[in-house]
Amino acid sequence: MDLHINGQRHSVAPEWRDESLLQVLREHLGLVGTKLGCGQGQCGACTVLLDGAAVRSCLLPVANVGALPVTTVEGLASAAGKLHPLQQLWLDHQVPQCGYCQAGQLMCAAGLLRRAPRPTPGDIDAAMGGNLCRCGTQHRIRHALNTLAKEGA
Ligand code: FES
Ligand code: FES
Repeated sequence: MDLHINGQRHSVAPEWRDESLLQVLREHLGLVGTKLGCGQGQCGACTVLLDGAAVRSCLLPVANVGALPVTTVEGLASAAGKLHPLQQLWLDHQVPQCGYCQAGQLMCAAGLLRRAPRPTPGDIDAAMGGNLCRCGTQHRIRHALNTLAKEGA
């Protein structure tokens, strides 16, 4: 079985097949940008894109990923190192504090913009409401995304 992550193919060893996608990313493939928070689907720290949709990788058995493309926070910037517009937005609005939740926040926002390029405030609240931040950056995230929605990317 192979995974397709950030445009690269990775083989899944037989002994990893009962693990979550998050475990495989972090413990076997060295993609540690995706974080383990609650490990129970409650916090959003582990969010990645699966075929363009935000999913919680702590709850996703790696065996269920199949051939669908996975994007992690390491795959947001271009291959040449140009920041993704959301990463630049986060910098411009000074969103991160400790940073622990921010990979999940960015990937959740990326999933939102894939399906709603000009999201309404309600879309933003609905999409981002389940991504927790103990540093209290939610207000800045909402403000940044609402600004992007008004002004365009
Ligand atoms: S670590 Fe996956 S939702 Fe919290
Ligand atoms: S920035 Fe610290 S947990 Fe969100």
